[in-house]
Amino acid sequence: MTPDDAADTTPAVDLAAAEAELDLPPIGDRSRYDALMQVIRNRVTVRRFDPDYRMPEEHVEMILEAARHAPSGANAQPWQFIVIRDAEVKRQISEYFVAEQRARAKMKMKFPTPDYRGLATAPGFVVVCADMRWVNAFPVLNDGSELDRIYRENAERILLQSVAAATMSAHLAAAALGYCVWWVTAIGQENAQRAMKPLLGIPEDISVLDIFLFGPPAQKPYKRWRRPYGDIVSLDRFDPAHHLSDAELADWIANRRHRVMYRDARKID
Ligand SMILES: Cc1cc2nc3c(=O)[nH]c(=O)nc-3n(C[C@H](O)[C@H](O)[C@H](O)COP(=O)(O)O)c2cc1C
Repeated sequence: MTPDDAADTTPAVDLAAAEAELDLPPIGDRSRYDALMQVIRNRVTVRRFDPDYRMPEEHVEMILEAARHAPSGANAQPWQFIVIRDAEVKRQISEYFVAEQRARAKMKMKFPTPDYRGLATAPGFVVVCADMRWVNAFPVLNDGSELDRIYRENAERILLQSVAAATMSAHLAAAALGYCVWWVTAIGQENAQRAMKPLLGIPEDISVLDIFLFGPPAQKPYKRWRRPYGDIVSLDRFDPAHHLSDAELADWIANRRHRVMYRDARKID
């Protein structure tokens, strides 16, 4: 289908107003870049927040306003944000995670699952959802063919990347307001979805993708290790030196992962 085939081709916005709305800086202007980098560098995860802090409603709105402006595949904006204010609901979600943490420990997955008790008292608490039916807004055939399956797989990636873009915008806005953040994704599994949906009145075809926590830290934040620039950027062609062997990757997971995740590599936080 080309836009010509679409039933209605009127722009969704008043174009003159939409052009006037933008405020782009001169190319190469450092001031906004520097301000943005300061926020990016200081966006930091903690897993315990000040339980007594009362999150101003205005801050929650400012943070989710940033999410609203994120880019998305086909401009579908396939996200929904549920702001949890009820302490009892926070406690119940936290309990689910603590149980999951214990279950994982028993399964010997070897993943150093963090301590999820801090969820219960996070002052900022947002459940990030996506309506997976939006994959139909991306290039798919919808004819049940093998080719359709391949396109749908990519469509799902487009959808997930879109919601991640909005989530990241919100995290950066929270960091800009001085809050520490926590991005929790350990909820994709079917049983986690089943536990959360009735609690929050989420319809069956909406998926919970992650939980976004923010607030003043109750543990001292610190900057985690980052790969050097030269290890992640190639010019023109993929740098073979960046291609880890399977053994190197396995070694990294076994011997380094816990050290880059936690302050004290001997225990989780
Ligand atoms: C996509 C994504 C998923 C994550 N999932 C979890 C999670 O389920 N539980 C958790 O405690 N932290 C989770 N995190 C937080 C990361 O562990 C954290 O961002 C990383 O260790 C780097 O630390 P920093 O945020 O302080 O830079 C996630 C982060 C991202 C971006």
